[in-house]
Amino acid sequence: MILPGSASQSLGAALADELDETLAVVETERFADGEFKLRVPDAGGERAVVVAATTSAAAHLELLQLQDLAQESFDEVVTVLPYMGYARQDQAFRDGEPVSARAVARAISTGTDRVLAVNPHEPDVGAFFDVPFETVDATPLLADPLPAIENPLFLAPDEGATDLARGVRDAYGAGTTDYFEKTRDYDTGEVRVAPAGTDPAGRAVVLVDDIVATGSTMSAAIDQLYERDAAAVYVACLHPVFADNARAKLADAGVAGLWATDTVERPVSAVSVAPALAEHL
Ligand code: R5P
Repeated sequence: MILPGSASQSLGAALADELDETLAVVETERFADGEFKLRVPDAGGERAVVVAATTSAAAHLELLQLQDLAQESFDEVVTVLPYMGYARQDQAFRDGEPVSARAVARAISTGTDRVLAVNPHEPDVGAFFDVPFETVDATPLLADPLPAIENPLFLAPDEGATDLARGVRDAYGAGTTDYFEKTRDYDTGEVRVAPAGTDPAGRAVVLVDDIVATGSTMSAAIDQLYERDAAAVYVACLHPVFADNARAKLADAGVAGLWATDTVERPVSAVSVAPALAEHL
């Protein structure tokens, strides 16, 4: 049985189809103090697959509740984290800080036999789990919506995302890759991107990153590329967090096309990771 968190209902349904398993309809009861309780009336069987993008504090609590009922009602519990929240906080950056990714990984480990996570921001977070952990790479799927383009340029907005850009290029089967130099002013939040080594003039560019959060990184990159006469700039990302006005920022910058996976369910989530997950289930 597939048990979806409320932020992963479409992916849960796609996974149920892919695996030919039952999709649980999870009921939620809310209390006056803001607490909530989940219920799956017909829970039971050999295996529960709990699928929950932990995009908020409430989503973390839903996940823990789903795991708890799964452990009581099924022989095996697999937890799928399409998007792992707090995965960027994989170390204490200053004295006196917790390692937030470790804190959530330890909590999640108590309720499951194993964990699958789709491209966590820091792959090393797997070491924080106390149960077997596997990463599912959805990068090649991002090539699917790309229209036919002659010799596209796949650009990572920073050096850390270069492998992602290369992964999409390889799946597309044509084009070249490069990356931007990025600096962020932590006082103002402003992101500055230095021009890439490749000249984008006249070329179609596909910007590839794992997360679009505020959209500052991508909109700054789009601006730079159009200033350097790129023919068209597309954006492909794995996890469309899209906080605040990110979608409008990209539209304002003139993005020619935008798509992402359903690890975070947004209107731009055109690509399902269900087939890639199914291979690991
Ligand atoms: C950072 O390392 C990530 O890969 C993304 O580049 C970042 O999360 C994007 O953030 P924003 O959309 O807020 O610029």
